[in-house]
Amino acid sequence: MFYKKGLLAAALAAQTCAASVSQARDDNAKCKKTTVAILGGGMAGVAAAQALSNSSIHDFVIIEYRDTLGGRVAHTDFGKAPNGKPYTVELGANWVQGLGSPGGPENPVWTFAKKWNLKNTYSDYSSILTYNETGYVDYSSLLDEFENLYNDASEAAGVLLTQNGQDQTARTGFALAGWRPKIDDMARQAVEWWEWDWEDAYAPDESSFIFGVAGENLTFNQFSDENNFVWDQRGYSRIIIKEASTFLKDNDPRVQFNSIVTNVTYSDDGVTIYKEDGSCVSAAYAICTFSLGVLQNNAVSFSPKFPDWKKTAIEKFTMGTYTKIFLQFNETFWPRDTQYFLYADPTTRGYYPVWQSLSAPGFIPESNIIFVTVVSQEAYRVERQSDEQTKEEVMAVLRQMYPDLDIPEPTAFMYPRWSTTPWAHGSYSNWPPSTTLEMHENLRANVDRLWFAGEATSAEYFGFLHGAWFEGRDAAEQIAALLGDKCANISDTSEDCGNRRYYEKLYGSSPLADYSVFDGWSVSSFYESS
Ligand SMILES: Cc1cc2nc3c(=O)[nH]c(=O)nc-3n(C[C@H](O)[C@H](O)[C@H](O)COP(=O)(O)OP(=O)(O)OC[C@H]3O[C@@H](n4cnc5c(N)ncnc54)[C@H](O)[C@@H]3O)c2cc1C
Ligand SMILES: *[C@@H]1O[C@H](CO)[C@@H](O)[C@H](O)[C@H]1NC(C)=O
Ligand SMILES: *[C@@H]1O[C@H](CO)[C@@H](O)[C@H](O)[C@H]1NC(C)=O
Ligand SMILES: *[C@@H]1O[C@H](CO)[C@@H](O)[C@H](O)[C@H]1NC(C)=O
Ligand SMILES: *[C@@H]1O[C@H](CO)[C@@H](O)[C@H](O)[C@H]1NC(C)=O
Ligand SMILES: *[C@@H]1O[C@H](CO)[C@@H](O)[C@H](O)[C@H]1NC(C)=O
Ligand SMILES: *[C@@H]1O[C@H](CO)[C@@H](O)[C@H](O)[C@H]1NC(C)=O
Repeated sequence: MFYKKGLLAAALAAQTCAASVSQARDDNAKCKKTTVAILGGGMAGVAAAQALSNSSIHDFVIIEYRDTLGGRVAHTDFGKAPNGKPYTVELGANWVQGLGSPGGPENPVWTFAKKWNLKNTYSDYSSILTYNETGYVDYSSLLDEFENLYNDASEAAGVLLTQNGQDQTARTGFALAGWRPKIDDMARQAVEWWEWDWEDAYAPDESSFIFGVAGENLTFNQFSDENNFVWDQRGYSRIIIKEASTFLKDNDPRVQFNSIVTNVTYSDDGVTIYKEDGSCVSAAYAICTFSLGVLQNNAVSFSPKFPDWKKTAIEKFTMGTYTKIFLQFNETFWPRDTQYFLYADPTTRGYYPVWQSLSAPGFIPESNIIFVTVVSQEAYRVERQSDEQTKEEVMAVLRQMYPDLDIPEPTAFMYPRWSTTPWAHGSYSNWPPSTTLEMHENLRANVDRLWFAGEATSAEYFGFLHGAWFEGRDAAEQIAALLGDKCANISDTSEDCGNRRYYEKLYGSSPLADYSVFDGWSVSSFYESS
């Protein structure tokens, strides 16, 4: 089912930009004209702009809410270094996930990290100590137990994938492989949280078995199983800003900062974008890179209303919240040589479970900074309550973990509230159970001249920063093709030249969709076929 109309009109409108958007207001004529409007200046937006530049399309604008590029790759000042200056900590993305191996494909984010000398260190997940409410208790053998069973589960997910089997929850997949923690087995619950929720920002019960495992494979088997933690004091967004500087001038007028998009009207003639300050941009095409959370929360009004197939896809995928809570102390009282500390709370799964030391060797040893992460319901709870309340809770946990120490009050304390941040409405997306690739194609498909890109539109790398890069590039390349000679032939229905595929009717959970795109973890077949 291909969606293709008005191609010739598209090419013409692109040249003359005489967009006559039917829903547009009278002042449309006053709107700034451009060929491609990129909504959002995060990783996807910058990749899209670079891909347009690479295709010699220089008439674009990036419309960005904040006063900087980077989006969910965002940092802030925190605490104090010995020289009196604050440290930089990452509120959002923090790792380069899956690097690359000799002769194999490389994660583009890793390429940028090397190119721009981003400071980062290998995250050693075996540098971990385990705790419960009585203090240090060694249940680390459960980590190996999970990992062995996970390998069986992963193979089973591979069979479901290649045989078009019915998806399950990751919970079901693990249970069939022999991992079924009892509800009161808090050590196993903590281990499972560390292995799953910490990455997906949702519990196994809320996650797709097939696509959860496939996503894991596509990043960690395809590139490499290494995760490097970024602690660069210039901020992780440096790679996005530097990459943008390769094709944008200083203060490039094509980047509109502090610009809040409130309304978007679209048709098969063009797209008009209205901003909070009353100004507008009228474009032949637009690429919307707003997060799934922004779309779900109706933070921007789209007119006409999205068709049902689009709306359903937006409501079906899930936006997780991942909250890092930072503490600085006057000393590092926790083990100096260890990177991670896992805490099993006696009553609540996911209650301040993973603690990470920035004082560990290879990071920032003199910082005396530690942070703890919560996700999902615990993140919503924590983000709703006051800093004081949260500080009290985390200090009580630390005192349980180290009952023999006299733990001082932190000298600095801070955490972001991603679930209510108006330009994000959450942290990153997840793939819910029994949700087909077709449904995902509906999330990714364009509506008329309005295209979508970003972390969530990546079937292979949803959630990850590299997913945002691939998707920004892909949308821009498709639009560049539509604008170029290559697609002047209106009878050419090859997908590169037309609209993205969408399905008004879905085939339930046993789809006819082309799952071979996932073909184990060899992703090359995906790019050849798309
Ligand atoms: C806490 C957290 C931890 C993470 N950890 C990792 C990690 O370790 N590794 C990893 O690979 N990924 C991680 N991610 C995910 C990664 O950050 C994202 O996948 C990626 O940054 C998404 O890029 P994007 O361009 O798709 O979206 P965004 O970065 O969200 O870009 C969209 C842009 O649109 C702008 N915008 C939104 N609404 C409006 C509006 N109304 N008007 C104008 N502009 C608007 C936003 O300001 C934003 O700049 C993490 C994310 C979070 C939040
Ligand atoms: C643009 O071209 C440069 C140089 O070939 C390349 O390194 C970069 O990855 C391209 N960017 C995109 C988004 O395609
Ligand atoms: C994941 O990778 C493993 C190891 O290569 C493979 O056995 C399995 O089939 C893959 N599963 C999925 C869902 O891709
Ligand atoms: C923008 O959308 C809001 C909410 O749907 C609506 O009330 C308002 O009239 C719209 N404004 C414009 C300028 O279209
Ligand atoms: C915590 O560990 C102690 C020591 O091994 C054990 O006695 C206790 O039962 C554990 N708590 C829970 C909730 O399992
Ligand atoms: C940190 O503060 C505590 C409580 O005020 C104090 O007892 C301790 O000596 C301090 N540590 C250092 C290294 O100054
Ligand atoms: C246009 O595309 C169609 C379908 O690919 C092809 O049959 C036809 O020859 C093309 N026409 C021209 C003028 O290239």
